[in-house]
Amino acid sequence: MLELNPLLNKQNGVSIYVQLYQYIKKGIEEGDIPQGSRLPSIRYLSAQLKISKNTVDNAYQQLMAEGYLESRPRIGLTVLPLEQLLLSPFPRENPKESVENETPVRYDFKYGDIDIESFPLQLWKRCLNKALLDEPEQLLQYGPRQGDVGLRTELANYLFQARGVRCSMEQIVICSGTQHALSLILQLLHSDNRSVAMENPGYGGSRSVFRNHGWSIDPISLEHDGMDIERLRESTASVAYITPSHQFPYGMVLPIQKRLSLLEWANHTESFIIEDDYDSEFRYQGRPIPSLKALDTKGNVIYLGTYSKAFLPAARMSYIVLPKRLLEVYHHKCRDYSQSVSPIIQKALYVFMNEGHFTGHIRRMRKVYQKKHHTLIQALNKYMGNRVEIIGQKAGIHLLVKVTNMSTEELVKNAGAAGVKVYGTSSYWMDGKETEPSLVMLGFGGLSEEAIERGVAELYKAWFA
Ligand SMILES: Cc1ncc(COP(=O)(O)O)c(C=O)c1O
Repeated sequence: MLELNPLLNKQNGVSIYVQLYQYIKKGIEEGDIPQGSRLPSIRYLSAQLKISKNTVDNAYQQLMAEGYLESRPRIGLTVLPLEQLLLSPFPRENPKESVENETPVRYDFKYGDIDIESFPLQLWKRCLNKALLDEPEQLLQYGPRQGDVGLRTELANYLFQARGVRCSMEQIVICSGTQHALSLILQLLHSDNRSVAMENPGYGGSRSVFRNHGWSIDPISLEHDGMDIERLRESTASVAYITPSHQFPYGMVLPIQKRLSLLEWANHTESFIIEDDYDSEFRYQGRPIPSLKALDTKGNVIYLGTYSKAFLPAARMSYIVLPKRLLEVYHHKCRDYSQSVSPIIQKALYVFMNEGHFTGHIRRMRKVYQKKHHTLIQALNKYMGNRVEIIGQKAGIHLLVKVTNMSTEELVKNAGAAGVKVYGTSSYWMDGKETEPSLVMLGFGGLSEEAIERGVAELYKAWFA
């Protein structure tokens, strides 16, 4: 085991855990602490340096989060290899100029992160193996243009059972992410009127795709229960893009009356609705909200789903359910396209779904996220009480928090100075300047319950103490 002898200075204004973190990080980068070394245990180092276990833990946690260390069962904390070629050509930063002023991030409330700890990695590896062993010849080629047939059949079943969507596997197109799916859809819509009505605020990732395809965006404001349908009726857009089951980012559910009005609008104006059903699996109160597509009898809804929340963002897999009347266009316009998702990953996901693991996984993850969601709300209530308003609870893996008397910039900055990363929401508004003041987004999928509790305690100190 390695001996560490940092010179820790309680008077220099830099917290002890940051000094310890910087000392170990520098040692690893400069090769003084070689890869594969085992670091002393928290208990040992805290006794040796006469500092608290928490302080050592914080430094270790930060180094693990940044990929310098790894906790190995029965071995302990081990130094990971570094790509020397990447490090050495650059002049080393002067720590006085940079790192000292920059508080390392201890708790990152990043939207989009999922709970990796609970991901069934061994099972997934087995599915990958099985996929490769079963049909190696076919899997090593491009695969069917629309996506793996077995996977699409499983998806069609899943969508009917979980989301009420009636479709055949012929209507499903596998894509690599929501943005890719949207790009593809826009190539199928041949209206001269390239204008889309979009919730404002709404998902910036989709707005960019519309813009980059030369579409104009008509921002439709939100009411307490989602998109303002009266305002939509005034719009001349030929398409509406919407997140009806869990509005992004506010989290409200579009009620049935509005859903019917929206469908009526599409029917009346001969427009399409693009339904982005990105995280509806995770609802913590009541039953899951059925999809808008489930109500669509006229074939006006183009349904978008993703595996990024319910399974793994790294799979980079999403899917479109095309209304039957768009199938001919799709086959015509995309006849020379190749499938963009690896057939190996698709087949492994088919195995995962076909063996019944997908629904079990979602059930388990719902519980995991429900607990995290509960912990976050409890912690916000416990530490901040009525100083904050929590927006968009009961579903998904993020929340909005409104804190009066402070601008979003201040909230983000003060949290950052305390080692907590929270996020502003301006990019979700059509015009970044119109955002609701004092609002931050907290994603909780990737943090442990303990980290959520501690992160909120730190936020309280940063914002109110
Ligand atoms: C509204 C919305 N749609 C879709 C996605 C997922 O996109 P992708 O399938 O590219 O991971 C997200 C996620 O981050 C989202 O917030």
